[in-house]
Amino acid sequence: MRRFPDGFLWGASTASYQIEGAVAEDGRGPSIWDVFCHTPGKVANGDTGDVACDHYHRYPEDIALMARANMSVYRFSIAWPRVFPEGTGKLNPAGLDFYDRLVDALLDKGIAPWPCLYHWDLPQALQERGGWENRDIADWFADYAEAVADRLGDRVRDWVMLNEPQVTAHRGFAYGMYAPGFADRARFFAATHHQNLAQGRALARLRATQPGARLGTVFNLSVPMPADETEADREAARRYDMMWNRNFLDPLFFGRYPEETLADLGDLLGPGDLTEIRHDVDFLGLNYYCRSFCRADAAHPLGVARAGAPAGHPRTCLDWEILPDGLRQMLCRLRDDYGNPEVYITENGAAFEEPADGGTEIGDDDRIAFLDGYLEAMGQAIAEGANVKGYMIWSLIDNLEWAWGYRPRFGLVHVDYRTQARTPKKSYNWFAEVARGNALPDPAGRSV
Ligand code: FCB
Repeated sequence: MRRFPDGFLWGASTASYQIEGAVAEDGRGPSIWDVFCHTPGKVANGDTGDVACDHYHRYPEDIALMARANMSVYRFSIAWPRVFPEGTGKLNPAGLDFYDRLVDALLDKGIAPWPCLYHWDLPQALQERGGWENRDIADWFADYAEAVADRLGDRVRDWVMLNEPQVTAHRGFAYGMYAPGFADRARFFAATHHQNLAQGRALARLRATQPGARLGTVFNLSVPMPADETEADREAARRYDMMWNRNFLDPLFFGRYPEETLADLGDLLGPGDLTEIRHDVDFLGLNYYCRSFCRADAAHPLGVARAGAPAGHPRTCLDWEILPDGLRQMLCRLRDDYGNPEVYITENGAAFEEPADGGTEIGDDDRIAFLDGYLEAMGQAIAEGANVKGYMIWSLIDNLEWAWGYRPRFGLVHVDYRTQARTPKKSYNWFAEVARGNALPDPAGRSV
């Protein structure tokens, strides 16, 4: 349980808008997150990704940090508006040059690049044409995916299509918390279906143009729980499971939507769509953080409001419940209900209150305890037959946590945003040890 199978991959995940900065460099166009962050009141403290961690210029230092932590895989995202500043049409080769340099620098250190084609920074020009509500986005996305793979496919084997379409649909279109910031039921279902369709079309395009590539996508899955043990909240949790988990898993793995979704999808669902969406992916990326507590709420566009974890449950500074067994449960559900696909944990991690500034080592024992628990639960799931092949922590370095701004710090490495100095935390050394030994270090009194 505390030792992992041979060949298990250890690494980290990041996302372009959260770390790169350089938002106006080398021809990058604006994204929906630039616009959202610059709209007063949308992001805590008025924080923006204008500079972020300046990773665009400091990537060699960040890759050196990965290498020193014995990482062998890195999931990063490509900023669509660097490649197509208008989203479609004219390619910007200078934008791709950055990812070309990044990939070479990773390979030079023996780290496998896992580019994710979409981690939320949609070109603003496409938003103005309806964004995820416009069915044409399936072609825009497939064309963009093909262009990126044309350039990097000689060195990249593993490709991730979307990051967490469920979070885009929920927080971007139903809860209004993330860009583009809508709270509307019809928009939510359009964004759900068009992401599924775009994912399917891009998978087919890369299958055709990149022989030998390994293709997958990343879902954020969550164990739904009733906020209170009432009939209404139990029903809310069931519906949430359908809208959050099953509306993405079922079309991809089985080529069907849950029966109850069909009324909301209506004309959105064209003939042949489900055949296009179903795919034999080579792997599924699982981003797992916490269970979701659901409360029936008729005023909400989806009829379900998210409640915090019940009093007394341990939680992170974002109020996310800490329960490692939730990860084991989710992995066992993929094993039982979805044919036990090859799974990589592509995100898992935690933000805690930390001193704002470095020092020589930042003691983050709470993060170590969190990771120890979740990794042990992952090991337990593997022992129970779940097909898990790797783990990428969220995240390598502290970064812009979307609508929460820079306050929540998820990194193994602290970033001082005034100086851009990187300071490894205690958890960084702990993680390096895990990756080196392919096992969890033995805490006092426990056997490995
Ligand atoms: C996930 C996102 C990632 C990060 C973590 C904390 O939902 O994919 O970018 O913000 O949450």
